[in-house]
Amino acid sequence: MSPLRRLSLLVALTLATAGAAQAQGRLTLYCSSDEAWCQQAKTEFEKATGIRVDMTRKSSGETYAQIKAEGSNPRGDVWWGGTGDPHLQAAEENLTQVYVSPNRRRIAEFAINQAKASKDRTIGIYSGALGWGYNDEMLKKEGLPAPQCWADLIKPIYKGKIQIANPNSSGTAYTALATLVQLMGEKDAFNYLKALHKNVNQYTKSGSAPVKAAGAGETLIGIVFMHDAVSVADAGRPIKTVAPCEGTGYEIGSMSIIRGARNLENAKKFYDWALTAESQGRAKDVKSYQVPSNLDAAVSPLTPDLSRIKLINYDFAKFGSSAERRRLLKKWDDEVGSLPNN
Ligand code: G6P
Repeated sequence: MSPLRRLSLLVALTLATAGAAQAQGRLTLYCSSDEAWCQQAKTEFEKATGIRVDMTRKSSGETYAQIKAEGSNPRGDVWWGGTGDPHLQAAEENLTQVYVSPNRRRIAEFAINQAKASKDRTIGIYSGALGWGYNDEMLKKEGLPAPQCWADLIKPIYKGKIQIANPNSSGTAYTALATLVQLMGEKDAFNYLKALHKNVNQYTKSGSAPVKAAGAGETLIGIVFMHDAVSVADAGRPIKTVAPCEGTGYEIGSMSIIRGARNLENAKKFYDWALTAESQGRAKDVKSYQVPSNLDAAVSPLTPDLSRIKLINYDFAKFGSSAERRRLLKKWDDEVGSLPNN
C-alpha cells in the first residue's frame, strides 16, 4: 500500500472513531456523595457506555441552590447522591423531572418511598445513619470520656473540640438539624444547637469534612454520617464511630434528573446504571460504606448495620418540603449561625 493511501486510511479511521465517541455524547453530572465515589462513578460509567461525563462534586444544599439558580437555563443533567431532603425540595419546586426507571424492581422500600413522596422525580440510592467520629488517641491524651450521647456533646469539657458542617451547604448538617428537632422538639433543639455552638470550632462546607479533620488530629469530634467515620477509620486513622444513645436520624441518599436536561437520553442511561447492583456494589471499593438501595448489591462488612441502631422515624415528607427546609435554615442562620465565634 502506498504511504499516501495508508495515511488517508488512517485519517478515515480516526474520523470514524471520533464520530462514534461524539455519537455517545456527554453527560453533565452534579455529584453530592463523597468525592472518591463521584470520581469512581464518572470513570465506571464512561467505561461502560463511552459517554463522556463532566462531573462536579458539591454538597447537597449547594447543588440544590445551583440547580435552582440555573432553573431557567439548566446546565446539569443528573444530580446523583447527597441527602434526600434537598432532592425532595427540588422535586416540589419543579426543578427536577419525572422518570420511572426499568431498573426499579430490586430497589429497597426506603428508596421507593422517596420516589413515591416526590411523584417519581427522585429515588433513593443509599442510606446511612447520623452519628459522629472521635479521635481516640487525642481523647486519651486529653483524658476525656468518650461522648456517647447527644447530651454529652454540649458538655463544657468539649469546648472548641467539635466540628459539624453548615446546614445551608451540607445535607449532613441539615439532617442533624432536622434530627434534633424530631428528637427533642423545636424549642429544645434550638437551645441545644446554641449550647453546641460553644463547643464548635468550625462549621465546614461539606458534611464529611469534620471527621476527616478529626482523623488528621485537627479536631476531636466530627458530627457526620457514621459511614463517613468508618471510612476514615478504615483509612488507618484512630477514629471511633458512635451511634448516639438517644437515637438518631438517617439519610436517604438520592438521585434526580434535572428538568430541561440537555442530554436527557444519557441522563436516563446514567440513572438506570446507578440503580444496578453492579454499580452500587462498587461503592465499598472507594470506602463509601452506605447501605445500597439495590437489594442485590454487595455490601461491605464495615457498613453500619441500620437494624442495630436506634433510628427515629424521620419524617422526610415534612423535612424535605420546601417551606420547612427554608424555614429551619433561616431560623438556624438567625439563632445559631449568627452567634459570635467562640
Ligand atoms: C458524604 C456521605 C454521603 C452524604 C453526603 C452529603 O459524602 O458519605 O452519604 O450523602 O456526605 O454531603 P453534604 O456535603 O451535603 O453533607
